[in-house]
Amino acid sequence: MKQISEHLFAVPVVDEETDLFESLWPLDDGVNYNAYVVRGTDGAAIIDTVHESLSDEFLSAVFQVVRPEEIKYVVVNHMEPDHSSSLSQLLEKAPNAKVVISQTGATLFSLPGDVLPVRDGDTLSLGDVTLRFVHTPWTHWPETMVTFVPEDRVVFTCDLFGAYGAYPDLSADDWDAYLLEARRYYVTVLSKYARFVSAALGKVRALQPKIIAPGHGILYSGERLEQILDLYGGWAENKAEGRILILYGSMYGSVYSKVDSLVHALESMGVTVDALDLSREDWSYAMTFVLGADAVVVAYPTYDADVFPPVRFFLETVKDKGLLAGKPIYVIEAHGWASSEQKIRALLDGLDVREVFSFSAKQPLPLDAIGALAQKLAGIVQQHA
Ligand SMILES: Cc1cc2nc3c(=O)[nH]c(=O)nc-3n(C[C@H](O)[C@H](O)[C@H](O)COP(=O)(O)O)c2cc1C
Ligand SMILES: [Fe+2]
Ligand SMILES: [Fe+2]
Repeated sequence: MKQISEHLFAVPVVDEETDLFESLWPLDDGVNYNAYVVRGTDGAAIIDTVHESLSDEFLSAVFQVVRPEEIKYVVVNHMEPDHSSSLSQLLEKAPNAKVVISQTGATLFSLPGDVLPVRDGDTLSLGDVTLRFVHTPWTHWPETMVTFVPEDRVVFTCDLFGAYGAYPDLSADDWDAYLLEARRYYVTVLSKYARFVSAALGKVRALQPKIIAPGHGILYSGERLEQILDLYGGWAENKAEGRILILYGSMYGSVYSKVDSLVHALESMGVTVDALDLSREDWSYAMTFVLGADAVVVAYPTYDADVFPPVRFFLETVKDKGLLAGKPIYVIEAHGWASSEQKIRALLDGLDVREVFSFSAKQPLPLDAIGALAQKLAGIVQQHA
């Protein structure tokens, strides 16, 4: 528990048990669930809760700063269980609490207790402190909103600006390492809804917050607050960051040798390039590289008449997340007897596939093809610069 302003307390709990967030994304260092207490002269509110596995710890922290009967509202910014599954336990202890949720949330979900749906811009008073609800739909799910306390200029954003990792005191010593975890949270959880994130960013900026208090990660203020807002602007646009990404798989090395040549050709031209072996790279980390890539090269061996599985399934996932939209894509495909070009073209349908280079022992890739590809990629990076 940590006081963050005159009326506000943070109640973070750290989940060190869960190995995979959403049973998908590795948590090597745990994850925070941050709830908050707002205390006014006319009652208190709780902003979000935590995962039910940590509800005892959460409730005892809450009741250090507020008496159960003082709680007038429990605000549910987002219904995903990492933020809402301690709601019933909290309501059992807080007899006077109403559950405040966006109208969309009230329509879509069944909630325990006395539900008070709020419209975009609605306010509730706690005496000397106000809660203002700003709808930010699809900043993960359709019902999501943020809650603003104008007196203290603090905005509670739930998944927006969240990060993986454990931050018991809501701060991070190593900002660069933190930003990687925030980026990983963004690509895995929010990137699918990038255009809604852009819209929400405009609404959050308009509030001119002094503190951003998310549901995962740390509290942002000062320079870091400005930086996370700027970074989110770039992420939501999937803005080119001046680097080429090669996503590849290779069983016996023939594809790898082309990848290696391409990396060398690009490096010799001074182009920043990352080559990720999708058989070995964690998907969530690989996704942080897809975000912001100027162009993507996909290289794989044909496998059972289709795209090599780690490459196929990863591409399907990042395409669904929208992370490949608008990016120039080049494909290098190796086969033994029959090309899988049609399969990769179908998989990447609707995207900007520029060229597919197919090769086999009988039909080798012309020596200068890799050099010419490197030139084109370098040209794309220059164009974006
Ligand atoms: C398990 C396995 C399955 C394969 N399936 C096909 C296939 O269905 N069609 C094809 O034309 N080649 C197939 N091949 C041949 C490879 O695509 C070809 O040898 C390729 O050059 C291997 O690239 P690599 O050395 O980078 O692993 C297969 C190879 C292996 C080892
Ligand atoms: Fe969520
Ligand atoms: Fe979340």
